[in-house]
Amino acid sequence: MSTASLEVAEPEHSRSGVPSFDLEAVRAQFPILKETVRGRPLVYLDNAATTQKPERVIAAVADCYRHFYANVARGVHTLAERATDAFETARRTVARFVGAESADEIVFVRGTTEAINLVAGSWGHANVGPGDEILITALEHHANLIPWQRLCAEKGAKLVVAPTNVRGEVPLEAFEEQLSKRTRLAAVAHVSNVLGTVLPIAEMAERAHAVGALLLVDGAQAAPHVNLDVRTLGCDFYAFSGHKVYGPSGIGVLWARREVLAAMPPWQTGGGIVTRVTFEESEYVDPPSRFEPGTLNLEGVVGLGAALEFLGEIGRENVANWESSLVEYALDRLEMIPHLRLLGAPKERASAISFVLEGVHSHDVGTVLDTQGVAVRVGHLCAQPLMAGLGIATAVRVSFACYNTVAEIDALASGLRKAREIFLR
Ligand code: ALA
Repeated sequence: MSTASLEVAEPEHSRSGVPSFDLEAVRAQFPILKETVRGRPLVYLDNAATTQKPERVIAAVADCYRHFYANVARGVHTLAERATDAFETARRTVARFVGAESADEIVFVRGTTEAINLVAGSWGHANVGPGDEILITALEHHANLIPWQRLCAEKGAKLVVAPTNVRGEVPLEAFEEQLSKRTRLAAVAHVSNVLGTVLPIAEMAERAHAVGALLLVDGAQAAPHVNLDVRTLGCDFYAFSGHKVYGPSGIGVLWARREVLAAMPPWQTGGGIVTRVTFEESEYVDPPSRFEPGTLNLEGVVGLGAALEFLGEIGRENVANWESSLVEYALDRLEMIPHLRLLGAPKERASAISFVLEGVHSHDVGTVLDTQGVAVRVGHLCAQPLMAGLGIATAVRVSFACYNTVAEIDALASGLRKAREIFLR
């Protein structure tokens, strides 16, 4: 199929044969998908970096500015009440999305990175000491590595790393072997941003708890793709970003088990999180507000609420099934391209596939694909230790969202063949 006629089609070997939602109707909700890039239809396959926004999210943010914009939880005037209601309604939507017991377990932050820094800075500073251990895995994004590295350096604790196997999975036994009585917390990705590997979170939580450690999950790459339920997962912290679930950027979520959150000291301080302040000391409010100082990101929170409603309406199970069909189809197509080496082969994978085109620098691959209107991510993918373990410095990554099509994967494959012809002639 040529890139000039990217009609919507379903893969022949799709599990159900067709997506369980109306793909054309879903695509129609994303205005940006009508853009052309270098004279060709946009093929957006960089969804692990960030997702595009449906009309509903764009409208929700605009409505906020048009109709109910004020400082949240500050004023007594009507507009401030409307703003606060909208903010807290979205908090309840987020609570339902993650399966929280209560909306009080939802802390709004800037994104996954800030959520993890909050846990390291608050819980970590209060609970980690000399000789303690923090366990991560070899496939972590820098955001779930550096905060722990710094905490360990500051506290005289040790950062321990559970290795991956040749498929790019973290075997449960390897994880368990690295746990010890000294482990205070294990911090793991739910889905690898490079390999797409889905990690066995529920089993990891059980193993971590057995040695008295808590489990933090970096859900940035999972929240848009899996049917999330923190109670079933059994973890203690779960972090994700709004912009990767079709919502605005600058907003993210930290879910934490109520009793864990209640025992945590504030991290950043300022207005809106105190009951009494003197020059000598301050008294803090209960969570979640204890962790939300300063003026809150109303438009971000409202946009995130709209994004999660959008996902709920198309059905997260449907999205997961469709994306998994796209992954299978893409793997088949990519395997047929000479000189293309896929990275990892996890049995359970969500959305992301990374590869190298032998003899061609990843940035050159990305540049040629861009001439075809195809957007992918290239580089170290914020996972340099994983890349080093794979013996490479950079890779090309494609990642799917609910609006992607089979025809777009065909456009990717023909763009890759073109890159190969140009550079490997
Ligand atoms: N963390 C995002 C990614 O992996 C930016 O691309």
